[in-house]
Amino acid sequence: MKQSSSNPKEKFKYYGTPGKDFARFDVNSPLPKEIEPTRRYEAEVGLLALPTLSIFSFFDWLFSKLGRFRTMTGPKLKTWMPSNLSRLRPDKFSDEYFVERRLNGFNPGKLNRVEGEEWQYAVNYHTGIYKAEPGGILPEYSEARFVLRDRTLQVHSIKYELKEQTITCFPTQDKQWEDAKYYFRSAEYVFQEIQSHLARTHMNMDQYAMAFYRNVSKNPIRELLYDHFEGLLSINKRGASLIIGNQGFIPEASALDPKSVDGVLIEELARLNYHWSPAIQELPDPIDNNHFDRAASAMWELLSRYVSEFFENNQPEIQTYWYEIEGMSADLMTHSISTSKEKFAINNQEDLQQLCVYIIYHCTFFHSWVNNKQYEDGGDIEYAAIGLWDEGDPNYNPKKVEKRHDAQVKLMWTLANVHYNPIIEYGPLPLRKLLWEYRDRIEPGIPLGWIMMSINI
Ligand SMILES: [Fe+2]
Repeated sequence: MKQSSSNPKEKFKYYGTPGKDFARFDVNSPLPKEIEPTRRYEAEVGLLALPTLSIFSFFDWLFSKLGRFRTMTGPKLKTWMPSNLSRLRPDKFSDEYFVERRLNGFNPGKLNRVEGEEWQYAVNYHTGIYKAEPGGILPEYSEARFVLRDRTLQVHSIKYELKEQTITCFPTQDKQWEDAKYYFRSAEYVFQEIQSHLARTHMNMDQYAMAFYRNVSKNPIRELLYDHFEGLLSINKRGASLIIGNQGFIPEASALDPKSVDGVLIEELARLNYHWSPAIQELPDPIDNNHFDRAASAMWELLSRYVSEFFENNQPEIQTYWYEIEGMSADLMTHSISTSKEKFAINNQEDLQQLCVYIIYHCTFFHSWVNNKQYEDGGDIEYAAIGLWDEGDPNYNPKKVEKRHDAQVKLMWTLANVHYNPIIEYGPLPLRKLLWEYRDRIEPGIPLGWIMMSINI
């Protein structure tokens, strides 16, 4: 564990105006030396980026000398990329698989119980308030509904609004039904990337990392949290322009314009605070293949045990250096964009314990789930595209669409496959032991080896 410098508030400066811009490290200032990526991390990212090749000038040179090198782009790219989960599933368009991925795919935890309807569960995405580009297809509203039968969910219907028309489709209508599912998956993809992945993990955790780095140096929670923030500010600094900037992946590849992307992100961030647990979103009925909820509650339970043991063992020192926690609490409250800033205060040890569990849960399990499954769902254009384009629209440009699709599968591949610091190999011993103990509840949803120590990609 590296020690902080003598002047952390100078080195860790916030971006923008407190309470107005969402709390984060100012990406225009240099990354403090102590949190620069390790060489092992660089090597890991390099290995996984190989299929996209062009960043490796040495290989470019070597293969061009051999006369065998082709930059991996163009019509073949999508079939040359390594198979993703949906490509390995002959039943990828079946209704059963549709249900399975709503439960256990890259955007979990979105089903809500519904009363007084023919269906018992629904997932909906309100997309209409955001602006789509000319020629882009993005339903203004999408809702998938599910009925509960003997501990399983079955899809009931999909309702969506497109170009001011409301359409409800049922599993019996062939082409229309397949279109409805494709539109739904596309809307889900936009919200997966912006809300669940970028907002809830990368940016949400950035504000806690900032308050932590700026204030905590002697309090034992430095030891507890330090490794769970490894790589976060660095990837957010690198990734900000790659993913959400004007030329970023989401505005480029989806039908949303850059301003709308920011809108979705900010709206989600303003909703979040650390007084939360996965039980809030857990489905109230037992469902056999609901692997996410089972894994999420197991993870929360084991982290609660882990953190509470740490607090018991470090009680006097946590109290001695409580003034650092007061500093952290003040930074969190001042810079939060939430309307209920008081929810960011850390008033006592109980709050601090809850905060630590919340941070570790998001930096490990939740980010690993939404990040590492990106290629499973987003690595196959036929199955899910983050942007859909109307071929009949005068703005339709097939070359541009192809480029966007290429960007999607390449980025998904790299982001999902950098597996730097799995807990089970690199975590502290007590945490490794607990993870192993809970593996039966976690594994059907996500392999243990996919759960990383921190958000670093
Ligand atoms: Fe990520």
